[in-house]
Amino acid sequence: MTNLITLQQRAQQGEKLAVLTCYDASFASLMANAGVDAILVGDSLGMVIQGQRSTLPVTLTDMVYHTRAVAAGAPDTFIITDLPFGSYQASPEQALISASALMSAGAHCVKLEGGAVMASTVAFLTQRGIPVCGHLGLLPQSVNTLGGYKVQGKTDAAAQQLIADAELLAASGAAMIVLEAIPATLAAQITSSIAIPTIGIGAGVDCNGQVLVLYDMLGLGKPPRFSHNFLQSANSLHEAVTAYVDAVKTANFPTEQHSFK
Ligand code: KIV
Ligand code: NA
Repeated sequence: MTNLITLQQRAQQGEKLAVLTCYDASFASLMANAGVDAILVGDSLGMVIQGQRSTLPVTLTDMVYHTRAVAAGAPDTFIITDLPFGSYQASPEQALISASALMSAGAHCVKLEGGAVMASTVAFLTQRGIPVCGHLGLLPQSVNTLGGYKVQGKTDAAAQQLIADAELLAASGAAMIVLEAIPATLAAQITSSIAIPTIGIGAGVDCNGQVLVLYDMLGLGKPPRFSHNFLQSANSLHEAVTAYVDAVKTANFPTEQHSFK
């Protein structure tokens, strides 16, 4: 069984971490057999499972349900579950109650979106035994303030803010940080400025690991530019996921074609 400490050590030794989102037991079992380092029960399930237009309608009850299913299918795999919109922003205490429900359902770490504003919550949860994965850059739960799903950190000021946010989350005890849709050079800079692993999605090859939405990498629906269809040249779902793990481990994914300048 991998755990947070072994994952962090492997990243520190230069091993790339291959992460995928997952929402059910069957795919979780397949991912465990294919050698995925960690599974993210993402609130992207609101879009790919529920057909919603954003992740905002996803409830804590939804996340508990899918975390249980994933944990049943992959009992030895490190599971990160998203705290859904509205379940943690009010206070560290609210976040602790929500995170506890996810940990009881089988998560080993919870993920929340946001920088400096979340620092005290990250510290509060971490000090009480709950590892926290940060999430910076494109924050899907903030789509209404961002005005759409756009690449972040493009101006100098925005880039400096993201670096400061990452350093603050790390100093607050964050276990790792997802970097979504930011320029590859900025992601590389953040990765070298903090000791904890960065997990990129649309953030270039220099992050400590990569994550993709499962259905995107299987070519279902309309995948974003930074994703890749790994089923296309595979003979089975198992082969597709194995190919993804291998491509991440060997730094053959993402390429410049999947990255932003
Ligand atoms: O919900 C999700 O799938 C995510 C990933 C895009 C990082 O948060
Ligand atoms: Na998410």
